[in-house]
Order: sequence, then C-alpha cells, then structure tokens
Amino acid sequence: MKRALAAVALTALAVVLIRNSHSGDFTTILTRSESLSDAPPLRQSEFSPPAFNESTYIFNAVHNQLRHVGNAMAPNGMTFTPGFVPPGTVLYHGMNRKELPQDLDWFAFDPEYSFTMCCNIGHAFGNPHITTAQVVEPLKIVYIDGASASLSSDLGTMDSQGFLLDDPIDTWNDYTEFARGDRLCRLFKENGFKLDGFVRMNTGFELLMCNMTNPKVEYVMNNAIAVSEEEGTAGLMKRSSFEVGQTFLSRDRFGNLLVRPSREFNFFDYDWVKSMERTHSSAGEERVELDYRGLVTIYGMEGSRDIDFPKNVSQHRLLTGSEALRQELRSQLWEADKHTRTYDPYRINWRTVTDNLVYKMAPILAQIKNGLGQLEAGTSSLNDTSKHLGGITSMLRLRFEGDEELANSTRHDVDAQVERCAKTYASDFHKYDVTPFEEKVRFAIRLVSTAVCSVIMETADWANKVQTRVGNVSEELPSKLHADVSDLISDLNWSYFVSCTHRCKDNEVCYLPTWPHGGREPHIPAEPLQCRTIEDLRKSRGL
Ligand SMILES: *[C@@H]1O[C@H](CO)[C@@H](O)[C@H](O)[C@H]1NC(C)=O
Ligand SMILES: *[C@@H]1O[C@H](CO)[C@@H](O)[C@H](O)[C@H]1NC(C)=O
Ligand SMILES: *[C@@H]1O[C@H](CO)[C@@H](O)[C@H](O)[C@H]1NC(C)=O
Ligand SMILES: *[C@@H]1O[C@H](CO)[C@@H](O)[C@H](O)[C@H]1NC(C)=O
Ligand SMILES: *[C@@H]1O[C@H](CO)[C@@H](O)[C@H](O)[C@H]1NC(C)=O
Ligand SMILES: *[C@@H]1O[C@H](CO)[C@@H](O)[C@H](O)[C@H]1NC(C)=O
Ligand SMILES: *[C@@H]1O[C@H](CO)[C@@H](O)[C@H](O)[C@H]1NC(C)=O
Repeated sequence: MKRALAAVALTALAVVLIRNSHSGDFTTILTRSESLSDAPPLRQSEFSPPAFNESTYIFNAVHNQLRHVGNAMAPNGMTFTPGFVPPGTVLYHGMNRKELPQDLDWFAFDPEYSFTMCCNIGHAFGNPHITTAQVVEPLKIVYIDGASASLSSDLGTMDSQGFLLDDPIDTWNDYTEFARGDRLCRLFKENGFKLDGFVRMNTGFELLMCNMTNPKVEYVMNNAIAVSEEEGTAGLMKRSSFEVGQTFLSRDRFGNLLVRPSREFNFFDYDWVKSMERTHSSAGEERVELDYRGLVTIYGMEGSRDIDFPKNVSQHRLLTGSEALRQELRSQLWEADKHTRTYDPYRINWRTVTDNLVYKMAPILAQIKNGLGQLEAGTSSLNDTSKHLGGITSMLRLRFEGDEELANSTRHDVDAQVERCAKTYASDFHKYDVTPFEEKVRFAIRLVSTAVCSVIMETADWANKVQTRVGNVSEELPSKLHADVSDLISDLNWSYFVSCTHRCKDNEVCYLPTWPHGGREPHIPAEPLQCRTIEDLRKSRGL
C-alpha cells in the first residue's frame, strides 16, 4: 500500500513535471493519473525524479554512450560511467621516438589515430614510431561523455572535467592535458576509486592511461614509420614541409590547441576519419564495456537545476555550477565505484533499452511528421495519409490493444495502449536489483517512452478511426498531432536523425568533422551526415 502510494505521488509529480517542462500538448499524458502506478516504486530519497527535459538529456546520454554522432551533438558531456577495457584489446600509441611511453600518456583504439599523432598532424619529425600493446588484464576506466578530448575552443567540452576537478574556470580549456590527466587520476585514486584511466572522445575514442607502464598492458610491437620525404602522387605528406620542432598543432593566445589549416586533406586524414566511422552509432566504441550500474549524470542532480540550462543542448555549460553540485557529483562518483567493483555480465544494458525505442520509433515519428505535414499542406488526401499512417502503426496498435478493445471494435482506450507501449519499450516491468543510478535512468527512459508512445498511439487511433469510419474524429486532430510530433522530435533530439541515412560506398566515408582534424571548432551536426569521397573532402578542407 505504501509502495503504491509512493508510486502514485511520483506519477503525479512526473505529470506535473511534464506539463511544466514540455511545450507540446501531450493531453493524454496529462490526464493519465495511473501512468506509472504499476511501475516499481522509486527510492525517492536517493535521487529526485528528473523532469521531462532532463529526461531527454539523460535518455540521450545513455543512448549515445560511446557513440560518436550523439556526443558530437551534445559535445559538453555531463555524464561519467565506469567500465573496463577487456583483455585481448589491442591498443596503439604514436610517438616521435623509439622509447616506450611512461607515466601518464594516451593509447588510441584505432591505429589510424596513432599514425596521425606520430606522423601526420602530430610530431612528424624525430624518429616516428607506433607501438602496439595488448590488454592482459581488464583495465578499469571511467568514460567521460561528450567531445571530452576536444581541446579546441570555449564551447565547453572540458567543462565536466574542469568542474569536477575544481580547476579555475579560465583554465578549463587550456592545453594542459598532462596536468589535467594527472589531477583526474589523483582525484579518483585519493577517493578510493581504483582505476587505470579514462576514455574520452575527439576524432575517435582514446584511452588516457594514468600510467603507461601498467602491468595490465603488454607492449607487443614497436614499429618505425618511414615518412616519405617527397610528396607522392597520392598526396601524402611531405616530411620536409615541417619545420623541425614544430608540430602541425599550434596554440592560440589562450594556449588552446589549434590545427594549422593550410595542409591538404590527405589519405592519412581520410583513413583516420574512416576509422571512426564504425563508432558513429550502432555498436559505438565496442572495445570499451560500460557498467551502467554506476552511470553518474549531472542532469537531474538537485544542484544542477540552479544552472538554468538553455534549450540548446550544445550550449549547456557548468560555469555557474555550485560547490554543492560539485560535492554531489563527487560523492555520487565514489558511490558509483562501490556499485561497479565486481564484474556482472547479467547487469542490464540500458543503452540497449533506449535502442529498442529509438530504432523502432524514430522512423515512425519521422513518417508521422511528414505525412501529417503533407495533409496539412494539402499535398496528400485524408484517405491516403490515414491509410499510410494507419499501416505503419497498425502492428503497434494491435500489440497494445486490450481485451475489451478486442471484444468491442468501437472501444478505444488509447491511454491504456500508451501505458502498455511505454512500459514495454522502457523494459519497465520488474524490479530487478538495480542501483539508484539505474533507477534514475529507468525513470528518464520511462518518461521519454511515454511521450513517444503517446504521439504514436494517438496517431494510430486517429488513422484507424478514419479508415474504419468507426468512432468520432475531430477535424483539428491531425494538425494538433502534427504540432505534437514536431515538438517531440525536436525535444528528443535523437542522433538517429542526424546520422547518415544509408551505408556509404566503399570509397566514401560518412563524414563527421571533429576536432582536431575537422578544424578548430567542434562541428555540431544538425543535418543528416553525408557520404563523402576524399576528393569531396579535399575541396571542402577547413569545414
Ligand atoms: C608507473 O608504474 C611503474 C610500474 O608499476 C612504476 O614503477 C612507476 O613508478 C609508476 N609511475 C607513476 C607515475 O606512478
Ligand atoms: C527544464 O525546463 C525547465 C522549465 O522550462 C527549466 O527551468 C529548466 O532549466 C530545464 N532544465 C534543463 C536541464 O534543461
Ligand atoms: C546551438 O548552439 C550551437 C553552438 O553554439 C550553435 O552552433 C547552433 O546553431 C545552435 N542550434 C540552434 C538550433 O540554435
Ligand atoms: C480510399 O482509397 C482507397 C484506395 O486507395 C479507395 O478504394 C477508397 O474508395 C478511398 N476512400 C475514399 C473515401 O476516397
Ligand atoms: C462498445 O464500446 C462502446 C464505446 O466504449 C460502447 O459505447 C458500447 O456500449 C460497447 N458495446 C458493447 C456491446 O459493449
Ligand atoms: C462526436 O460527435 C458528436 C456528433 O457529431 C458530437 O456531438 C460529439 O461532441 C463528438 N464527440 C467527440 C468526443 O468529439
Ligand atoms: C539538438 O541538437 C542540435 C545539434 O545537433 C542542436 O543544434 C539543437 O539545438 C538541439 N536541440 C535541442 C532542442 O536541444
């Protein structure tokens, strides 16, 4: 009884939060008082329930974990997730000497990244080498989301690290990577969090190792790279064009790292951007395994609400974050460590839960928006639009109809359909032994799936009624649904909508310009990415 009451109270709260935070008019969500009543009660004391807008950010943080496109869209990450790099993983390090790296330094997961560092944009002088290493015991890491290794500008990509460390704000963007890495390693270790390093993203994912002579990693190869002195027909770099001692990277007056834009886009650049293509979406950087039992996100934290984040997610900054928020973030991280010290292959993969919703619903939402837009513009008839939208939603409608609707075809309980749909796609039936961090994630996913299912099941019901001519349909409904679905798609801001719409040809790359190869500013994708050949990229160097 007490559990039920707590759940009802939370439902009411969620409904109020949706109403207050959502610009759309999700009438059915607002009137459904029992919407979360069967959901497991939340441990309210452990986190405050995120609002709808916060839930969309949390949902995306989970959905985009270790995926390039989503992190480029929200480059100022707010989320830290413990995980590990499994044994057998091969790692690379590019350098301008033969000696193996020591102490704090970086591994790349892609050799193309290391090649860039030793031999293309990096130190193309000295005695370039790429060393290859292999993980022999799991490396414990913390993944910092966003474009967390893009040291380019004052956009805010280093905010979460600077804020966590309590560095002076005007130094957050400084190119002081060794010092920053060192402070990160020390802060975690001093608080009992035993880790080997951090995973971050720029053009691909990298592994910041607290100590490169870590016995969990064995060096297995060390290759000298012969960089051509002559510019070949393939447009390879010319070594002599680099002044000795000067790197391709330079710094601006703030000490920020810049990329000299003068050089032509070459095959090495192409190999590099091609190597990160596999991490754009789907599996993401699958050489890292995350443990969502310890996912700590600033979104929804009590103290984060004073920040007043703007609607544009790429403008979320932590410059005004309070000391209380920093302490909350830190204590949650040390708590997350305790939940993730043992390996549990049977933990819930929350990213997969979000995938179930996104990959099923994103194409349907886009078609609803498009179809209702055409109806409104008069380029498609009511008959045709309702037939198409009824068709693409019919399986969902039939799956979520109840016994009463089956027995009586004039009965339509859309609220109950939304409820069944949302629970299914949020995997929200059982109370497994989840951590408070997972409770927060589950709550956010449930709120987002309720909003998505609501628009879709209402459209399905409308289309079905028009087609069967059973039941009353208001003439204003299509334009209301069109407004709802448009608002929703914009609020969801799913990376699905800006990813390449098809697999590129063999001589093309699904191009996502990212620091450092893509120029000084991190590029924030807002339109679907395009397949580009190297010739295309040569022409548009400096994007
Ligand atoms: C790195 O690890 C090696 C071997 O375990 C150790 O000798 C060295 O002192 C460590 N370096 C730092 C900076 O902790
Ligand atoms: C969510 O929306 C509320 C109300 O519009 C706003 O005050 C708050 O800053 C927003 N929070 C985030 C994280 O965007
Ligand atoms: C969001 O902010 C980014 C970075 O300031 C900007 O480039 C982009 O145009 C903004 N998007 C919208 C829709 O305003
Ligand atoms: C709707 O379209 C179908 C064929 O696509 C047609 O058979 C039917 O008569 C149309 N209904 C109306 C009301 O126009
Ligand atoms: C079928 O449902 C409709 C709408 O809920 C209701 O008005 C009608 O009485 C029901 N018919 C039967 C036979 O139960
Ligand atoms: C259904 O249609 C009737 C008659 O046209 C109308 O009086 C009633 O308000 C409609 N009901 C709804 C829910 O739109
Ligand atoms: C969605 O993401 C894009 C970047 O892809 C950004 O420009 C836009 O402002 C975001 N929209 C919202 C509502 O956050």
